[in-house]
Amino acid sequence: MNYFEYHDNILCCDDVDIRQIAQEVDTPFYLYSYRTLIRHCHSLHRAFGDMPHLTCYSMKANGNLALLHILAQEGIGVDIVSGGELHRALLAGFPPERIVYSGVGKKDEEIRYALETGILAFNVESVPELMRINNIAGEMVMTARIAFRINPNVDPKTHPYIATGMKKNKFGISHDQALETFKLAAGLNHVKVVGIDAHIGSQITRVKPFVESAERLVNLAEQIRSEGIQLEYIDIGGGLGIRYSEEEPPEPSELVQAILPVLKRTGLRVIFEPGRSLMGNVGILVTKVLYVKETTYKTFLIVDASMTDMIRPSLYDAHHRIEPVVRSKKDTMFADIVGPVCESGDFLARDREIERVDQGDLLALMSAGAYGFVMASNYNARPRAAEVLVVNGLVEVIRARETYEDLVRGERMI
Ligand code: LLP
Repeated sequence: MNYFEYHDNILCCDDVDIRQIAQEVDTPFYLYSYRTLIRHCHSLHRAFGDMPHLTCYSMKANGNLALLHILAQEGIGVDIVSGGELHRALLAGFPPERIVYSGVGKKDEEIRYALETGILAFNVESVPELMRINNIAGEMVMTARIAFRINPNVDPKTHPYIATGMKKNKFGISHDQALETFKLAAGLNHVKVVGIDAHIGSQITRVKPFVESAERLVNLAEQIRSEGIQLEYIDIGGGLGIRYSEEEPPEPSELVQAILPVLKRTGLRVIFEPGRSLMGNVGILVTKVLYVKETTYKTFLIVDASMTDMIRPSLYDAHHRIEPVVRSKKDTMFADIVGPVCESGDFLARDREIERVDQGDLLALMSAGAYGFVMASNYNARPRAAEVLVVNGLVEVIRARETYEDLVRGERMI
């Protein structure tokens, strides 16, 4: 459910006419709906009911400060994977005790920064990382709070690039080494083991892999407790999919209801790290048709957004719905919707049936709130797009379009 809806055949965001926004800020731009974001936060809170929980939004999905600030105010926490994301989290106002830090390759200075900040915990992904954190905490005369990310070896049945919980993946401590690793950590002087964690992949559209992963974590948590190690929380990661085209993923509340009975057995506080399911349908990418190019073979709609703005179709062959901002109810056409970048891989959709559109018309690439702007690049010296939020009827530019000056910042000629 989201608030990108047609009123009299004009696509609106929170009831504001998108043509008007395009006129104000120019194209291409990302557009976010405040009402949708708040709705998603509330439905997550409701789903957990009276179960002690913390939702740690996975910032990698969309790290815009204005959106993060709203989440922080809604009582949400954050899952980070770098010092840069920690910086953003603090600027946006997340209290340190609502920050968990994941990722396989934390650098010394990033570990120090997180220790100084006093985050809730590091999600540790290997024994060498454990030792590094223990040493650095020792040097700083501190105790680091840690959880281990376990690789439960569950097949999430998603695109191979975004499956992370199978034994062939680089993530987490393998399930069969988990217990000994917890015991090892319990004997170290500068770490305190507080949690157990897993994240099995992304755009998962079924409940079953989550239940399997939760069961494995819960069984491990019980074994760990019987070793005399007291945990505070169990972190089930993120990964819930959204509907891009024909998928029918469960609602976050359905997922939570399916796994809560398993998790309740532990009596531990639950952490959930949603990225896409919280942010995906909060945003769209608005672009303008520059040219309608007819070849003898196909029709190309050449638009002003490209793989540099939205790389998911090029990288994962991902499908995003593309809708005209003004519905004319004319006939349809088949076209490749492509950007100006000099790569044949630069497309937003291929062989897509779409309502007939003309030069100058606006198109909306839907479900672009997660892994959209954050994966943008400056390839072909293309300035990154503006980001806009509609909040209570007001159109707020929450990130200015980049300028040519921005493109050369930090460079020097010798
Ligand atoms: N927690 C951890 C440790 C993660 O690595 C991720 C995502 C999440 C949570 C959030 O997962 P989500 O709820 O968003 O599925 N660029 C790809 C997605 C990569 C996901 C990486 N990890 C895409 O555009 O589909």
